[in-house]
Amino acid sequence: MNILLLGSGGREHALAWKMAQSPKTDTLFIAPGNAGTAAVGTNVALSATDFPALKDFVLKNQVEMVVVGPEDPLVKGVYDFFADDEALRGVTVIGPSKAGAQLEGSKEFAKAFMQRHGIPTARYKSISAENIGEGYAFLEELKAPYVLKADGLAAGKGVLIVPDLETAKKELGEMLGGMFGEASKTVVIEEFLSGIECSVFVLTDGVSYKVLPVAKDYKRIGEGDTGLNTGGMGAVSPVPFADEAFMKKVEERIIRPTVRGLQQENIVYKGFIFLGLIRVNGEPMVIEYNCRMGDPETEAVMLRIKSDLVELFEGVAAGTLDTKELLTDERTAVTVMLVSGGYPESYEKGKVISGLDKVNGSIVFHAGTKTGEEGILTNGGRVIAVSSYGKDKDEALACSFANARAISFDKKYFRTDIGFDL
Ligand code: AMP
Ligand code: GLY
Repeated sequence: MNILLLGSGGREHALAWKMAQSPKTDTLFIAPGNAGTAAVGTNVALSATDFPALKDFVLKNQVEMVVVGPEDPLVKGVYDFFADDEALRGVTVIGPSKAGAQLEGSKEFAKAFMQRHGIPTARYKSISAENIGEGYAFLEELKAPYVLKADGLAAGKGVLIVPDLETAKKELGEMLGGMFGEASKTVVIEEFLSGIECSVFVLTDGVSYKVLPVAKDYKRIGEGDTGLNTGGMGAVSPVPFADEAFMKKVEERIIRPTVRGLQQENIVYKGFIFLGLIRVNGEPMVIEYNCRMGDPETEAVMLRIKSDLVELFEGVAAGTLDTKELLTDERTAVTVMLVSGGYPESYEKGKVISGLDKVNGSIVFHAGTKTGEEGILTNGGRVIAVSSYGKDKDEALACSFANARAISFDKKYFRTDIGFDL
């Protein structure tokens, strides 16, 4: 079958790499893709949110399945656009409906959903300009630090963790005043939770589900988890503390109530659910939901899935996921992200990337790259994800670090302590 994958990052290259291995895949198209996806499929110069253009492409190229990488098209309703169009009957979309994508698209929706279904999460209050006084009062009830979240999508920047009450009140006012535009017209104030985090990925057809390998990502730019938040500097899978006992709790208290809750509320959900979890005194709690896979977690998790991903997607589409088998690789998989100097603040693009031919033993996924006259060029903050297997994380990381050194571009930076806290 012909498949169209939407997106252009390292996550999409990893998904494309995995789907291209399936005997079920005839032509794999990626819109818009990057220099790496061009090596495992065919890039098409279309935006992932231009739904009418995607429709034309799908019809002209006999695409039977559309797999959605990033949240943006999902929150904008790509699933519903396809489902509601007579001409697109028979084309399946892997990803939740617009209503389901609200788990990520609206923090207020996600918190209220968790409350309705008894899913453990931090105490919260949802505030808009009309009830800012309640917001101040709730902040006064809480202890420092204070967590303020823009309700809507804010390109991963919408969460503020503020050390003192006065600043928290001031930031609340500024957020409601438009710090993140429309996204922060509503702000969720949360109790601060202290613990270690991990990312749990669930693939569901709306009724049954498979729990994919668990990963931990490293979001801060600096060693020892310091400095600014980034899109992610590396990831490790599996996560030792997410052991059988912990995952049993996650399944009983979080995954099952989530899938059941979506069903009870008649929310169509055929895709990935990403649970951002935190372990507080040994117990799992939800920090956030996302309606897609994680980046860079996918660049490690795909290495650990032995089953045919396209066959699992067919199960999602047909509602027969329970008949499919998910086989995982026992080895550890890691990824180390090479980024442009200056990221996550300002950085330059268009630097020539060399040494890709010297990589030995790792799998290279492109994140922000493009092909230019001089070869492969940097085209974003996160540039290349270097993924490796090992018998343990040390062996896998040693391989990724060696290859991270072999690749070069002007002002390349990567963290050399991925996995330090495991
Ligand atoms: P996000 O940008 O939504 O991925 O969230 C950013 C980060 O903020 C999370 O990964 C957590 O580290 C942190 N965070 C969010 N909510 C809380 C909370 N209630 N308590 C502690 N940390 C939090
Ligand atoms: N790695 C976190 C995310 O994809 O949101």
